Amino acid sequence: MSIVEKIDKERLPQHVAVIMDGNGRWAKKKGLMRVVGHERGSKSVNNIVEASAKLGIPYLTLYAFSTENWNRPETEVSTLMKLLVKTLKKEIKTLTENNIRLNAIGCLADLPERVRNELLEVMEITKNNSHMVLTLALSYGSREELISAIKAISDKVKNNIISVNDIDESIINKHLYTQILPDVDLLIRTSGEHRISNFLLWQIAYAELYFTKTLWPDFKKNDFYEALINYQKRERRFGKTSEQLS
Ligand code: FPP
Repeated sequence: MSIVEKIDKERLPQHVAVIMDGNGRWAKKKGLMRVVGHERGSKSVNNIVEASAKLGIPYLTLYAFSTENWNRPETEVSTLMKLLVKTLKKEIKTLTENNIRLNAIGCLADLPERVRNELLEVMEITKNNSHMVLTLALSYGSREELISAIKAISDKVKNNIISVNDIDESIINKHLYTQILPDVDLLIRTSGEHRISNFLLWQIAYAELYFTKTLWPDFKKNDFYEALINYQKRERRFGKTSEQLS
């Protein structure tokens, strides 16, 4: 039985989020420039997007650039931005062939115009695709997202559009960048770090967390399948006895 056959297609996580970490360390280990690590990382992006679509996972969210990443050396930031444009151009084919809609979360106004325009163009081209939503978190920080939501909700209260008593989980969800996405079921972080790094803090409240030592450029389809199998094992035990399961 191949590894992919071990995945129960009826019990897939609906929303998988990934902290793609370890590009720099992958490059360093090989004596290469960090940017080569990011380039190889974009190949892993392609692999995982394709694997998710083929399996039928409806929502995949990737942490591509955090608000804190702006503090990296200027050359690395500009190379990452160029790589993003290049990858977006290349990915249009995969997105179209697999009926995937591109979505973005984060402070998109911070992105260089060229990147923002490319992103908006691909989002426009793919807006009617319905098999899967691929969300890129770009210039994203969860605390910043929560602050903007709180400001927007406060404004509505101040202008009597809603009352304080109306504020509930659904109102908060509607004011987050992730408003069209369900809660995260499975959060994967590569490279052996056990941190959330300001990613989807509200949305991972009930998520299963999966950490692997594999560096992002080495994270292949089989590594992704392993994570899904691991998730399904945990789900199977959730709140039930082994007698009930057998
Ligand atoms: C973390 O590795 C990775 C990033 C900050 C960027 C992620 C970007 C890509 C995978 C490339 C393209 C992505 C898309 C969506 C087109 P790191 O540099 O923090 O690695 P390190 O911790 O080993 O230094």
